[in-house]
Amino acid sequence: MENFNQIESNILNKIKNVNDRNSYDSIKTEIFGKKGIITELFKKIGSLNQSEKKEYASKLNSLKTKITEILEKKLTDFNQSEINKKLENEKIDVTLPGRTYFAGKIHPVSQVIDEVTSIFSEIGFSVEDGPDVENEYYNFSALNTPENHPARDMHDTFYLDRSKDLLLRTHTSPVQIRTMLKSKPPFKIIAPGRTYRHDSDKTHSPMFHQLEGLHVDKNISMGHLKGCLYYFVKKFFEVEKVKIRFRPSHFPFTEPSAEVDIGYKIHNGKIKIGEGDKWLEILGCGMVHPKVLKNVKVNPNQYQGYAFGVGIDRLAMLKYEINDLRAFFESDIRWLEFYGFDPLDVPTNYRGLSR
Ligand code: PHE
Repeated sequence: MENFNQIESNILNKIKNVNDRNSYDSIKTEIFGKKGIITELFKKIGSLNQSEKKEYASKLNSLKTKITEILEKKLTDFNQSEINKKLENEKIDVTLPGRTYFAGKIHPVSQVIDEVTSIFSEIGFSVEDGPDVENEYYNFSALNTPENHPARDMHDTFYLDRSKDLLLRTHTSPVQIRTMLKSKPPFKIIAPGRTYRHDSDKTHSPMFHQLEGLHVDKNISMGHLKGCLYYFVKKFFEVEKVKIRFRPSHFPFTEPSAEVDIGYKIHNGKIKIGEGDKWLEILGCGMVHPKVLKNVKVNPNQYQGYAFGVGIDRLAMLKYEINDLRAFFESDIRWLEFYGFDPLDVPTNYRGLSR
């Protein structure tokens, strides 16, 4: 019969040299693998005669148990020391003084949206939104812009299907329709959001931002529109005086329609809003067309209203002296570091809108 004591001390000698995971694995195979020492000993049982079998098997089993336990203990020790090493490396000294953490900045477009929201909510407008992917009914038909109307071409629409039903909204005006369809007048809302047109140069980007305004009630007149826009421009540009000019224009969904310019001048190379004799177009507006009101089941003999659409990116460019619109959407972190706003400095009417 095999000398189990001898075998055991041989194996224990091998295990003694195990000092890392790799050597552990190879020793384990050497002992318990397909051709391992213990495995081979088990294979022999079949060829033994009855008298030897019992003693042999019992010795072999206890050897196997002993070695297994020793190996398992080794493994636990390895794992424990790996964890200890990790803990040692990753330990944090919570008593160290804090390091300055440079958080991200608020993009000028987001900043302007926060500012206009603050300005309009002070005079009773609430905020609505609608989907970027619109269908042609909300974007055009309901806004009194039937098929083949030249205004559809002017918008350079991105269509999303061949039937020209789904599209990327070309303006925020569909939110007027969505808002009026879902409840009853009066309506007094603004709707900031992304809009899309097939157009790209220094002052046009295929994706840009608009702010829609809509106020529908009994006896609303063009005077209210004017008053509202004066209030808005003064608050937004943080100036006492502004010069505003209404130019007759045309939109299918307003009648009469106007485009609004604000006066400015260049002083020491900087743009000054509200003074001077130069004009800059900032928005389109008008009285909501009676046909639009009918489309959303509002009686135009009872209710009237005004609507306006402002280019948000353009407002941001004017107010914060940024002269290339494309940089807005290039995601250059250095640009944002320079033009962005402190996230903790939320614009409010009473604390001030901007730096
Ligand atoms: N939707 C128009 C545009 O994008 C702007 C506008 C809005 C005009 C509301 C009148 C009333 O050009």
